[in-house]
Amino acid sequence: MSQLDRRHRRALPAARRLAKLALVRWDLLRHRNDPSVRRWKGVLAGASAGHIVVPSRAVASSREEAGDFAAHGLVKAGHRVLDVGAGNGRQAIGLLEMGVAEYVGLDVVPGSVEWGNRAFAGEGKVHFDLLDVTNAMYNPKGTQPPEQAVFPYPDASFDFSVAGSLYTHLERMEVAARYVAETARVLKPGGAAYMSFFASPPNAVNSGAVRSVFPREEILAAIEEHFVVERTANGTTTDFHDQWRLYLRKPAG
Ligand SMILES: C[S@@+](CC[C@H](N)C(=O)[O-])C[C@H]1O[C@@H](n2cnc3c(N)ncnc32)[C@H](O)[C@@H]1O
Repeated sequence: MSQLDRRHRRALPAARRLAKLALVRWDLLRHRNDPSVRRWKGVLAGASAGHIVVPSRAVASSREEAGDFAAHGLVKAGHRVLDVGAGNGRQAIGLLEMGVAEYVGLDVVPGSVEWGNRAFAGEGKVHFDLLDVTNAMYNPKGTQPPEQAVFPYPDASFDFSVAGSLYTHLERMEVAARYVAETARVLKPGGAAYMSFFASPPNAVNSGAVRSVFPREEILAAIEEHFVVERTANGTTTDFHDQWRLYLRKPAG
């Protein structure tokens, strides 16, 4: 690789990040009188590491997704929730408004974990933990192999685990299988999980961290070792936002 190519590879993500940060400022200005954006501004604006979200869209999508999880019986007020691949905590908004007892975010980006713990400090029942495993896109300098990841929680700790747009970055099926198994371990018997994937078909299998795609039957085999599949949705096209959504239950006995 030439020196120019190397400079380009460094400059592109930096330029994308600056553009995203500018979009966040613009969105805040446009929605400055929107009560929900004002309510959550402190946690949605200011994060500069990892997965940066646009405030007005983040509030709306978080509420919509939490409502969908509740409507399908996965989560309710009083539950302890684990968000695997939590980013800057977008998903916490709808869940906190619903009245969950505790929200724990797990992520590989140290800056996201530090930010989340500072930004949600006033919420009390929220905290973020670092899982220092490697991911080519999000944590290339991680110290542990992700296929040996151990979530830092005892068995049967949570009622519900959400992992939105996480498996779409896990690179290899053995990493995904490990995360499914760890999720099952830390859930209480009868607990629920939500995971989203890019599956093949209709996508082409891909082990890149930007868009990881696994064979549909391998995803199901890994999941059915630990969960009952209660519902699936979407994932029928190759559109970037069309992820295969799985609503899962850990058997009670
Ligand atoms: C597209 S973002 C989704 C963030 C969040 N779930 C949401 O829906 O807003 C993917 C997240 O997964 C995290 N991530 C990537 N690889 C991971 C891994 N091996 N273990 C845990 N988190 C990981 C990234 O740091 C990033 O925050």
